[in-house]
Amino acid sequence: MAERLIVTLDGPAGVGKTTLARRVADKLGVAYLDTGAMFRATAWKLGEGAWDLDEAELARRMEGFVFSIAGVGGATVLSLDGEPVPGDIRTETVGMWASNIATIGAVRAFQKRAQQAIGHASSLVAEGRDMGTVVFPEATCKLFLDARPEVRARRRFMQLKSLGQPCPPLEIIEAQIRARDHQDRSRAEAPLRPADDAVIVDTSDLDVDQVFERLIMEVARLAR
Ligand code: DC
Repeated sequence: MAERLIVTLDGPAGVGKTTLARRVADKLGVAYLDTGAMFRATAWKLGEGAWDLDEAELARRMEGFVFSIAGVGGATVLSLDGEPVPGDIRTETVGMWASNIATIGAVRAFQKRAQQAIGHASSLVAEGRDMGTVVFPEATCKLFLDARPEVRARRRFMQLKSLGQPCPPLEIIEAQIRARDHQDRSRAEAPLRPADDAVIVDTSDLDVDQVFERLIMEVARLAR
């Protein structure tokens, strides 16, 4: 590819970013960067309660963490210190740990540096909360997905069921999603919000193929 292409895909928990970012990256033949997984893997490695440490200590503990990606599209593998990030980070509990450490300036500064270093080296579809606003403000294709919280909770519920994973009642999932939304949207640094120049797509009443077609259309238009 002659020029580096960065597509940012931001939005709240459970909106379908991961599925769509993987498909868009496949279609474009570029790498996929799951920055939620970077926050989750960091929280997992630091351990429960790390958010109560002081910032200097947190920065010291993260000093040696090295993130890298290999491969393209949905098959892109994210590694921390040379090991693919474990499936254990995908629970809602670790999602909340990630959201907790994501409020801390030293953690955000570290993540931003690591994400920009990866984006500097390759074309990407970068998925997260602040890709279009903070990490890749120069990106030409900024997409923001949204959906009503009850729709997102139902999707997460169905996904956990289909994976055969332990699944809390629907009301609990919705309460967890609303709590994480609130924390991600109201934090002082890099809160979840669409960039001024992002295309916002409400996916509440669309299926995944309809959202995918729309995103591909927008990328083709914006990247022209
Ligand atoms: O997308 P996810 O559910 O895997 O993200 C987990 C948490 O990580 C999310 O609730 C907030 C944080 N996060 C962030 O603050 N900024 C990002 N770019 C990605 C994730």
